[in-house]
Amino acid sequence: MNQKGVELIKINDYKFDPAFVLAPMEDVTDTAFRRLCKEMGADIVYTEFISSEALIRDAEKAKRKMMFYPDERPIGIQLYGSRVESVVDAGKRAQSVGPDFIDLNVGCPVTKVADQGMGAGLLKNCDLMAAIVKALKEELTLSVTVKMRLGWDLESINVLQNVKILNEMGVHWIAIHARTRAQGYKGEADWSWIKKAKEISEVPIIGNGDITSVEKAEWALEYSKADGIMIGRGAIKAPWIFRQLKAYFFEGKRLPEPEFEEKLSIARKHFTLLVEHKGKYAVSAFRRFSNTYFKGEKGVAKIRQRLSVSRSPEEVFEILENPFKLK
Ligand SMILES: Cc1cc2nc3c(=O)[nH]c(=O)nc-3n(C[C@H](O)[C@H](O)[C@H](O)COP(=O)(O)O)c2cc1C
Repeated sequence: MNQKGVELIKINDYKFDPAFVLAPMEDVTDTAFRRLCKEMGADIVYTEFISSEALIRDAEKAKRKMMFYPDERPIGIQLYGSRVESVVDAGKRAQSVGPDFIDLNVGCPVTKVADQGMGAGLLKNCDLMAAIVKALKEELTLSVTVKMRLGWDLESINVLQNVKILNEMGVHWIAIHARTRAQGYKGEADWSWIKKAKEISEVPIIGNGDITSVEKAEWALEYSKADGIMIGRGAIKAPWIFRQLKAYFFEGKRLPEPEFEEKLSIARKHFTLLVEHKGKYAVSAFRRFSNTYFKGEKGVAKIRQRLSVSRSPEEVFEILENPFKLK
């Protein structure tokens, strides 16, 4: 524990104090985006959430989501499910590809997941959540972590009860998105719960929700005393946030937002990694990042339009080399 009262986050040979973590995000945190964020300074990354049932059916799409490169370590494979045997079976399959930890999703708010008792659905059935975590702990050799929300809705917040249960189960750390399932992504994350969770937890707590700047990160760490912070949408908007955090926390330097030329070079790196991973499908996958690299630039509508009609990686590279060329 350092003088701020913050625990060190340790996983295998890695140690972080505090840890800056890329949040798992479906259709966003594929291997390309994770590698980009690692290069920018993210400490820990997770895969997108993966259905346990799909994994044990041997579904190709689910298996592909487990793929990662050595430069992504430490990396966790995140699973969701509500049947103990399925999650354990999926956990063993995930363990066999060699990640650093296995994470259980206890936060996905999407109806087709949560209403079937998976993801945030487990917040309404703490006994089942505990049974799944217990079985994972017994059957796997890897560290097990949990990412959860505050509770199902504001009337049934049970985060502190769940933190106690998960401490008893011996999870490696707990990441908390400080919203309820009912809130979805609306309203503000309530970091007072992360502070309270930290006060009662022996295992490290990673706080999550609405961190979009170095200032907010500094406030969140100081206020909650969390052991790390996890960033989702803030990283889609600005993957360089991790670089800014590292410079500020470890060197006391404030890095400005990159100039447009540098954003373009980061975009080219990102797209190169995407093509390596997805081939021609990189073209459509890259469209969701047009705001990341072009928002606020003159002529952005035209660039976005050119990206939206691009059909080949070559066309996208051409735009990233020469975004203002008129076609
Ligand atoms: C597009 C998108 C996809 C997400 N997919 C997942 C997921 O697969 N697993 C998960 O635990 N959380 C998922 N989340 C939630 C994020 O991990 C994070 O908890 C949430 O966005 C709050 O953090 P933020 O305010 O930094 O974005 C997703 C969020 C977004 C925006």
